[in-house]
Amino acid sequence: MESRLSLFPLNTEATQKGHLVIGGCDTVELAAEYGTPLYVYDELTLRNCCREFRNEFGQRYADTTVLYASKAFLNKAIANLLKEEGVGLDVVSAGELYIAKSVEFPMDMVYLHGNNKSVEELKMALKHHIARIVVDSYDELRTLAAMAEEGGHIPDILLRITPGVDAHTHSHITTGVTGSKFGFPIFDADEAVDRAMSAPSLNLIGLHFHIGSLISDVQPYKEAIDTVLDFAAGMRDQHGLELEELDIGGGFSVPYTMEDKVPEVSVYAEVIVSRVIRKCKQLDLPLPMLTIEPGRAIAARAGVALYQAGVIKNVPGLRKYVSLDGGMADNIRPALYDAKYVATVANRMQEGDTDKVTIAGRFCESGDILVRDIELPPVMAGDIIAIPGCGAYCLPLASNYNASLKPAVVMVTGGKARLIRRRETLKDLIADDLL
Ligand SMILES: Cc1ncc(COP(=O)(O)O)c(C=O)c1O
Repeated sequence: MESRLSLFPLNTEATQKGHLVIGGCDTVELAAEYGTPLYVYDELTLRNCCREFRNEFGQRYADTTVLYASKAFLNKAIANLLKEEGVGLDVVSAGELYIAKSVEFPMDMVYLHGNNKSVEELKMALKHHIARIVVDSYDELRTLAAMAEEGGHIPDILLRITPGVDAHTHSHITTGVTGSKFGFPIFDADEAVDRAMSAPSLNLIGLHFHIGSLISDVQPYKEAIDTVLDFAAGMRDQHGLELEELDIGGGFSVPYTMEDKVPEVSVYAEVIVSRVIRKCKQLDLPLPMLTIEPGRAIAARAGVALYQAGVIKNVPGLRKYVSLDGGMADNIRPALYDAKYVATVANRMQEGDTDKVTIAGRFCESGDILVRDIELPPVMAGDIIAIPGCGAYCLPLASNYNASLKPAVVMVTGGKARLIRRRETLKDLIADDLL
């Protein structure tokens, strides 16, 4: 049990009476006050993760920019915190850009990605003079060049290159392999560089790649850096490209269970920075600005999902189910790609793990199982179940399946909790319906 706590936010502890405490707030009291399911974000952990990326990369490579991948989870409070931490944003939609605008996020720290950006999204990006538009296809290159010509603002762009590197992760979250829907395949990207450089309405600054998510092996980063820098050197020789920026995307892993072995941020930083420096030297390329886009590695550990246990069902000789008041509607990851989690009983932290149970969600799918076969203290209806590692890719993928209400979100720090998103209400469910 002690060791499971290491998967929770930084300042997590168990009190004498056996309650789980995060950021000085008793989670059992939070559940009583705000209801469940409840997502709890620890402010210190979020800030610490931002600083860790900025420091570990920045001390090895001064010209580093850290962008948070908004898709991991963005709302106004999170955007504000990132602004305070000097971390920029990678956005992929008008919606994410709108959230950034709503807190006056500095637009010169915002990058727009996406394999099918709409004309409206490109228009919004041009209007707000965001830092970079990361161009993903020939169609987009053409459309953007025409729009920029008409609008009179020359955007700084990166070209997203698919380096043909396998990040050895789940197929749903691999993006760097040849044949991916993202980016220009490297064997077909010469022309993109040529066209971008010759478009007077576009300013080509550099290249981007993102090879996937949950990458626990540093080797694919090395391969992708080598491949893309080789390509950049070829483009310099062929078309006179000056690579001012190399954006290597995100993908840094986090542990979800005690078995997960994940490199420290310092290890990613050391491997990536030394590879960029070595390769640039070898190819006689000036060192470009280095951009990284961690999403999960900033948000995952900071977030904990709290649920209340309801029905306990023993299927004799097979399995004992503990059913929760949430599940796949607020966390689709286990059902979507077999993601693994652990759990604790937030009001029985001092008791031994003597019971093997499977934690099920409440939704009408047999696949709605959050944790299979985990040892816990004997759970009773009304107990509070806490699942760590829920800060990234849970709430943004949440749905209203079974007409459920999306959970409330609180931010905790120094023993104080504040609501940063209210729970949906039954009225919200029909607010957009017309008879
Ligand atoms: C372009 C890009 N950058 C960054 C990320 C963030 O990835 P992660 O959350 O694994 O760091 C993603 C995730 O899909 C992405 O597509």
